[in-house]
Amino acid sequence: MSFNDLAVALEARRRDNLYRQRRVLESAQGPEVSVDGQRYLAFCSNDYLGLANHPEVIAALKRGADTYGVGGGASHLVNGHSQAHHALEEELAAFTGRERVLLFSTGYMANIGAVNALVDKQDAVFQDRLNHASLLDAGLLSGARFQRYLHNDPESLAQRLSRSEARRKLVVTDGVFSMDGDIADLPELSRVTREHEGWLMVDDAHGFGCVGATGGGCVEHFGLSNDEVPVLVGTLGKGFGTSGAFVAGSEVLIETLIQFARTYIYTTSMSPAVAEATRASLRLVQADSWRRDRLAQLIKRFRSGCEQLGYELMESPTPIQPIMIGDAGEAMRISAALAAKGIFISAIRPPTVPAGSSRLRVTFSAAHSEAQVDRLLDALDAVRIDRAAGGAA
Ligand SMILES: Cc1ncc(COP(=O)(O)O)c(C=O)c1O
Repeated sequence: MSFNDLAVALEARRRDNLYRQRRVLESAQGPEVSVDGQRYLAFCSNDYLGLANHPEVIAALKRGADTYGVGGGASHLVNGHSQAHHALEEELAAFTGRERVLLFSTGYMANIGAVNALVDKQDAVFQDRLNHASLLDAGLLSGARFQRYLHNDPESLAQRLSRSEARRKLVVTDGVFSMDGDIADLPELSRVTREHEGWLMVDDAHGFGCVGATGGGCVEHFGLSNDEVPVLVGTLGKGFGTSGAFVAGSEVLIETLIQFARTYIYTTSMSPAVAEATRASLRLVQADSWRRDRLAQLIKRFRSGCEQLGYELMESPTPIQPIMIGDAGEAMRISAALAAKGIFISAIRPPTVPAGSSRLRVTFSAAHSEAQVDRLLDALDAVRIDRAAGGAA
């Protein structure tokens, strides 16, 4: 048995301009980063509030390590559930206005664990066709009947729900769509789901911290209660600037996850020092509304600049502001042309996004300045002119 087959698949991926390569970051996360020996102005991290390298978060991590050590040491159900984890869960419950919260080590695991604890082959799961891969994988793994509805389309969802005779109906959606930046129509999705006696699960990985008056995400933005969104997921590696994830909901939901979510039960708890760091970032998320105001200013400046340059943007009010390119090879070339001008934005290609919709996923952080947005716009302008002239962009 040789690996020839694998080598052929790798070659095909390279030929289709879909090959992935890692870049080595030599600095902390921030607007300016050092990558593979070069300095870049970066617009592609999910550190939307600029907390990944914030001094108070770093200090809390160090204090946490001094008190609890680095490793969780065991799973939560053995002896890996520290006071730091417990306090963070209680603070996140207060923040989200839900009865209880359960921490997971990553968002991917939170989604796999929650969906699989709630549905099995007697049930049905309904997913937006642009949902994040972790949600799609969670649904497929559960064995529940798997259906995708049209993007952010409550009518399309309603049609599928009304035809279903499944025992449980779980509707799953991103809150802010990770690759497009638009916000799900949660009030309507919730109404339709409840009308058909289903449960709505919202993964607001990209909404927490950025959306809502106190950073409470899409449910805060729309004012949705626990009955309207009974399963609420947040991740900590994006707006919160640390790592890990949580599920928020009722006492019964959280006890169900503790008993049945395999990705909760059979894994080491997140580092307690990271839990302490996240407690500090949660305080900053809530207290510093200027970070959300700054993001809104940067987004406005970028969108009006792009409009003048003739770049096609998507309908997004969030820090995710993708520039649609289409062809994967073209997206790679524009990304490389920007890199040559000192701007780091990676090209997002299939299968992360649908075929023919490769894009530059531009993201902003509250740590960016207006002058840095202007530098990005100047580089986009120069790349556009070079390409129009058929030059070596
Ligand atoms: C919508 C969404 N859900 C979940 C995840 C996974 O979260 P994590 O990186 O914590 O595994 C991501 C991205 O990473 C995401 O974009």
